[in-house]
Amino acid sequence: TKGGYEHFMYKEINEQPGALRRTTQGRLDTRTGGAKLDEFPPGTFADVQQVHLIAMGTSHHAGMYAASLLNARGIPAYAFMSGEYSVVKPPVTPSTLVVAVSQSGETADTLDAVRRARSAGARTLAVTNVVGSSITRECDDELLLRAGPEIGVAATKTFSSQVTALALLAERITEDYTGMKSTDSRELMNALARLPGDVQEILDTSTAREVAIEYEGSDAYFFIGRGPAHPVALEGALKFKEISYEHAEGFAASELKHGPLALVTPITPVFAIFTGHEDEATLSNVKEVQARGAPVIAVTSDESSEIAEFADHVLSIPETHPEIAGILANVQLQLVAYHAANLLERPIDKPRNLAKCVTVE
Ligand code: M6R
Repeated sequence: TKGGYEHFMYKEINEQPGALRRTTQGRLDTRTGGAKLDEFPPGTFADVQQVHLIAMGTSHHAGMYAASLLNARGIPAYAFMSGEYSVVKPPVTPSTLVVAVSQSGETADTLDAVRRARSAGARTLAVTNVVGSSITRECDDELLLRAGPEIGVAATKTFSSQVTALALLAERITEDYTGMKSTDSRELMNALARLPGDVQEILDTSTAREVAIEYEGSDAYFFIGRGPAHPVALEGALKFKEISYEHAEGFAASELKHGPLALVTPITPVFAIFTGHEDEATLSNVKEVQARGAPVIAVTSDESSEIAEFADHVLSIPETHPEIAGILANVQLQLVAYHAANLLERPIDKPRNLAKCVTVE
């Protein structure tokens, strides 16, 4: 049931603190750093030379996010849309770990990509929310999200849990690949332990509804970010378009000047996501769009900075480890999308033309 909420999506957004507590339960070593994954004891990934993350939609954004976490730790990691994987045919060897990310565990493109990876000799690992789903049968190993059932077609709590579970997996892979814990592992594990409380703080204080009201009727909605904030920008736009039916697009902030800037006008609000990854450069992008008259909504933990001074609105997130700030920023964007769609009286839990699970290619 919707438990008193008007929509499953809103219920599931609000369930995130509990979902994240379950995702991390017993899996964090906050004292010495490192992930405690019973399924994957130290040494499990000793033979892994590169990681491919394959997924679609929101799960692909979580895969992109994880690739950036792994790259930052010196691990060769690449994210692919699973629908492209069998077409592009990136080289796979027995030392490739292929991580298939799928909330449902039933997405046809992702299952197909897993089969291709297996037949090329790769080791396969499913990150999924559904116990006993097809993907868990097709892959060598599984890491469960434990986020609880997700009914809304728009994936919300499972994105937060996917990024969290992948951050833990990234810690384990890093330790096995480099022979030591990442230098800031303890800080990261502690930040993950605080994550449910940080998300709750956003749910209690967000001004996302005011932002949705202020910019209702705009021509288009753009989202920009760098590093792990890039997949968050893509995810912010996906959520917005899928449930509001408004035109929304996400870009790497660095891409702006190479084309998308031509679309920016006073009636295209730009959401700029700051997670401590070359924020200065993103701030200059903000100035560029403002010079074209576009309103700017900054998602940041740094309310006293130049960022806040330039932005028309700030959606505030608690200060945390930069590698997981994107999870918090995404919660603000989920709320903006939800309220925008609700103002337009869209059928939020069952958007037109979409299904919760895409079981045909
Ligand atoms: O179940 P999966 O995670 O494999 O689903 C992948 C996509 O179909 C899914 O994330 C889709 O993009 C969502 N509707 C986005 O909200």
